[in-house]
Amino acid sequence: DTSGKTITCRAAIAWAANSTLSIEEVQVEPPKAGEVRIKMASTGICGTDDHAIKGLISALFPFIPGHEGAGIVESIGKGVSSVKPGDKVLTLAIPQCRECSSCLHPKGNFCEKQDVLSSSGLMLDGTSRFTCEGKKIHHSFRTSTFTEYSVVPEIAVAKIDDAAPMDKVSVISCEVPTGYGAAVNSAKVTCGSTCVVYGLGGIGSASVMGCKASGASRIIGVDINEEKFPWARALGVTDCLNPRKLKKPVQQVVMEMTGVGADFAFEAIGLSDVMLVAWDSCHLSHGVCLIVGLAPLNSKLSLDASMIISGRTLKGVCLGDYKTRDCIPQLVTGYLQNKINIDPLVTHQLPFDQLHKAFELYHAGKTIRCVLLF
Ligand code: APR
Ligand code: ZN
Repeated sequence: DTSGKTITCRAAIAWAANSTLSIEEVQVEPPKAGEVRIKMASTGICGTDDHAIKGLISALFPFIPGHEGAGIVESIGKGVSSVKPGDKVLTLAIPQCRECSSCLHPKGNFCEKQDVLSSSGLMLDGTSRFTCEGKKIHHSFRTSTFTEYSVVPEIAVAKIDDAAPMDKVSVISCEVPTGYGAAVNSAKVTCGSTCVVYGLGGIGSASVMGCKASGASRIIGVDINEEKFPWARALGVTDCLNPRKLKKPVQQVVMEMTGVGADFAFEAIGLSDVMLVAWDSCHLSHGVCLIVGLAPLNSKLSLDASMIISGRTLKGVCLGDYKTRDCIPQLVTGYLQNKINIDPLVTHQLPFDQLHKAFELYHAGKTIRCVLLF
């Protein structure tokens, strides 16, 4: 029985911006009040983790990356009531405290206890549960999943169905709600509509799935890596565009293809330039541009201000606007009931100790999602 004891296990540490992750022996303290210690079963590698490791978004080094995790509760701290040891859970990069102004409002999900924007890398009490050779190691996004064991606040943990296949459902922790949810729940893509998705990686592919599931009749997929096109077509993309091979700006091509602009545009890369391109691809009057990708620190969006009057909507969305603890477990149930098929989103699975190979595949653009297995 490990409860109440410090656990020594393997974890990947990002020691400094842009350095290669190194797998180290770490000490994981027991969970304090309101915290949960999780034995990780699988974790996805998300674009956001890569941005954090490169130091492009807010992160405090050294830290243990990863937020897209599925695992089993090993032990709980005082006062924890929503999960118990042995429960299957997902980690949540946006928590749901159920007390803050965001959680209490019927719309939106950006809980005030989130740690993605201006990240502290610490638990809610301002301390860390990880050390390596006596040095304090930071958490990331309230989660940290590139580790055999992690400590996560209860508000960032969702209990899921006992029948969930743990080698796959980690993608329902981020990729599926972020992409699929942006289309189905946030944009509420309409039947017969035209959509354009910029970026056909994990998040963009999940957005395509959401557009298709909502009955979109045309889905234009845009990526600079044509290796993503066959996967995208299989998920429902009707037209693939590589902006580097076009003679005109891609937004102009989308305008010409649709005549009037797309009803819905999704930016699933995290580049401010592409966000503007997505905006310019939308129907002037009713078009909705959803920003799904997380842009690097300090990047700015510069729009033609006069164009705003036309009625287009620019909307940011994080984890599909789902109140995370309430809604994300329902996506797992939907998968088990064959209502959402996440299988095509997981293109690779590798053991945790092949993390470097997984990142090589990711950087080479060979994966939609590679899931690491513990
Ligand atoms: N134009 C079009 N496509 C691009 C461009 C570009 N300028 N630059 C990159 N891409 C493509 C890549 O080829 C890749 O297929 O965007 C895709 C990004 O996918 P992933 O790297 O798999 O990242 P993903 O996990 O999908 O995350 C995307 O969402 O959550 C956020 O922070 C995350 O900003 C990131 C975004
Ligand atoms: Zn909250």
